[in-house]
Amino acid sequence: MPALRVAIGNNKGGAKKTTLTVRLAEALAKSGKRVGVLDFDPQGNASRRLGWQDTPETPPLTAAEAVEYDKHQVIHEGQAAQVWQPIGWTAPYAERIRLIPARYTLEDRATEAGMKGAWRRLAKALHGTDDDLDYVLIDCPPSLGHLTQMALAAAHFALASSEPEYDSIEAAVRYRDFVGNSGDDLGNPDLRFLGVVVGGYDMRIGAHVGQLDGARDIFGDAIWGVVPRRAVVTNADEYGEPLGAISDSHEVRAVFELLAQRFMKEVAPA
Ligand SMILES: Nc1ncnc2c1ncn2[C@@H]1O[C@H](COP(=O)(O)OP(=O)(O)O)[C@@H](O)[C@H]1O
Ligand SMILES: [Mg+2]
Repeated sequence: MPALRVAIGNNKGGAKKTTLTVRLAEALAKSGKRVGVLDFDPQGNASRRLGWQDTPETPPLTAAEAVEYDKHQVIHEGQAAQVWQPIGWTAPYAERIRLIPARYTLEDRATEAGMKGAWRRLAKALHGTDDDLDYVLIDCPPSLGHLTQMALAAAHFALASSEPEYDSIEAAVRYRDFVGNSGDDLGNPDLRFLGVVVGGYDMRIGAHVGQLDGARDIFGDAIWGVVPRRAVVTNADEYGEPLGAISDSHEVRAVFELLAQRFMKEVAPA
């Protein structure tokens, strides 16, 4: 059976998508789960934050190669197998996380949207390569374009991330509605929207308080949780380290561990 795949998205940048992807992976791995992180944003932020190092001199195998056509314009079932690799963290639970990294060359795949079966490429390439994992978290780019569509065609579930700000919440709603409307068109009618995590919340900012209220009206119980804005999160992301390696991070670690609990409950076979 394939891993349960979750596409983490929002139609806006800065929505804390990558932080949610990386910290959920960390919390899930800490609780014993085997997690794949598929970086599907050409910015490659998830890859770097997981300690992966790009080497421009000897271009490595990345998501761009995982979904690349061969010279006959064919995608081979399971061709992503060669691209999964370990992450750079040294924490013991990091062994349970593996990565398909991304670099800017993934953008080349986006331009191939018109080619035969283009949006099914990822589903086909992943086939059989994640059977030994519990979950795959797909970090989507801030767009509803071809890369995100490929991710949604391969995923079982979609989870939104949002800042507690108007444009971000509006873009999370667009992601939710896009997921809701696109399953059939993407050949994936069972695709299910899970909910939204609000990240970077600062209760001292009036607009955040107001927007969180607004988000509760829109999403109700589908708001999985609220991650407070904390320097330790920025620092862990900056240094490319697990939160577990950053001192005074216990409060936010507990928040992500709680999110992981809900994740493990809701991300289950139908
Ligand atoms: N809870 C938080 N507290 C403080 N900074 C955060 C928090 N969550 C995310 N950040 C920071 O916010 C910035 C944007 O987050 P990121 O995950 O890169 O967004 P996206 O992937 O949606 O573009 C990053 O610098 C990240 O480290
Ligand atoms: Mg990102």
